[in-house]
Amino acid sequence: MILSHLKTNLFKVAIALFFSTISSFGQDNNVIISIQDTDQAPIINKNIYGHFAEHLGRCIYDGIYVGDTSKIPNIAGVRKDIISALKALEIPNLRWPGGCFADTYHWKDGIGPKEDRPTIVNKWWGGVTEDNSFGTHDFLNLCEVLETEPYLSGNVGSGTVQELADWVQYTNFGGISPMSDLRKENGRIEPWKVKYWGIGNEAWGCGGHMTAEYYANEYRKYATFLADWENTGGLVRIASGANNDDYHWTETLMKNIPHHMLGGIALHHYATVQWSNKGDAVDYNEEQYFKTMRSALWMEELVTEHAAIMDKYDPDHRVDMVVDEWGGWYDVQEGTNPGFLYQQNTMRDAMIAGATLNIFNNHADRVKMANLAQTVNVLQAVILTKGEKLILTPTYYVMKMYAVHQDAKLLLLDFESPKYTYNGESLPAISASASKDQDGTVHMSIVNIDANKDNSVTINCNDLGIKDFTATIITSDKLQDYNSFDDSDKIQIQSYKNFKFKKGEISITIPPFSVVMLEGK
Ligand code: AHR
Repeated sequence: MILSHLKTNLFKVAIALFFSTISSFGQDNNVIISIQDTDQAPIINKNIYGHFAEHLGRCIYDGIYVGDTSKIPNIAGVRKDIISALKALEIPNLRWPGGCFADTYHWKDGIGPKEDRPTIVNKWWGGVTEDNSFGTHDFLNLCEVLETEPYLSGNVGSGTVQELADWVQYTNFGGISPMSDLRKENGRIEPWKVKYWGIGNEAWGCGGHMTAEYYANEYRKYATFLADWENTGGLVRIASGANNDDYHWTETLMKNIPHHMLGGIALHHYATVQWSNKGDAVDYNEEQYFKTMRSALWMEELVTEHAAIMDKYDPDHRVDMVVDEWGGWYDVQEGTNPGFLYQQNTMRDAMIAGATLNIFNNHADRVKMANLAQTVNVLQAVILTKGEKLILTPTYYVMKMYAVHQDAKLLLLDFESPKYTYNGESLPAISASASKDQDGTVHMSIVNIDANKDNSVTINCNDLGIKDFTATIITSDKLQDYNSFDDSDKIQIQSYKNFKFKKGEISITIPPFSVVMLEGK
């Protein structure tokens, strides 16, 4: 009953957003948002704000990990400035070691004395030889320092069930066993108790080019032997999920895998101008921007449709949707290794992040985890490095601004967005989500993706009993603006005063390509 009421409300929000793309809008560009605080609304799982660090390009080596002999200040080889930046972001989980790399990775090559470790050729990303100096201990110890949950992606494509089961025993078992003894020999007495385990990655592609039917059987086999060695039932096993709108994949997994073996099903979607012609990360025109945003906003439909299939087989929402790869993907920066996927990060990326996180928040009844691709120096990174220098990207600031939604209760919004029209095509210009935290503070994140126009928003907050509001904004003069190594503070979170709060109603102007966070108490 509660669920069906909630679903009706969420459905209404989704329908309102959908129709806003096709219905006409009033002249004054004023959006009226109604906000509802209901006990039936879900908690926004903090894991929606997760990150992803693959052995790809300069994400791990020459990014997060510089080695303990580096002149760059580090803790056990991990850059101190990266640790501080990620701690400030309150990242709830970190996925590693891939991506495509995960299905080539043999974890036993990354333990023990570093000088004795075999090398690995990173066949997916640039064909470079890695020395395996960053391995299981390095990653899991880093997660402890960051106070974040590790999410390990297991090798199904070129590994074995035994290898993955051994990894679980190595990381999680406190008793006496071959793998826990080996862990202790390598200097770690207590197990790390890793909770989140991916069973392969993109099994339909780089993870083995399997059919959904074949993978479902493989999954069942792996999940059987991926036991919780402490016998506490705490392992969350996550199936490799669909690429974009491959609904057959989700349907097959939901139908063919017993749900007690299935903690979550993944979904991957990247925002692009066009796969075959992605365009420059900085030097783009409005047409490319519009196409990127259309691709990013497709996430709303993807999540809705995959969730509808999951609802059919799992009406009680026991299986989570885990969007463990999302973000913007452009051509690599000129002069960099094409296999390293290094790109700059502009206000376009802030728009992708703000709008996508709003979608995840509004679908918090099913989306329980998501991982932005990727953390450092790869794709839509939150951090970029160059030698000793480090910059925080506009995406970093959006993630920081939105951290207030972590583990807060979703508030339901209803509104009809104005259109952002380009060349005869339209997208909803405004996206929003809201939550109430445990102290009763209300946060509302509003994004205006329109490249040219302000939009005003009016929110009736009478029922929320709020006495005062403050606001912050991420904005810049030009859509193509970014934080560079010479001007690293150009885009940051600033305080924002362009709003009125009168008789329980807020009226606020959202400038073009801006993200605003309202905080009310
Ligand atoms: O994030 C980059 C790559 O994109 C990942 O390795 C893979 O899973 C996806 O195709």
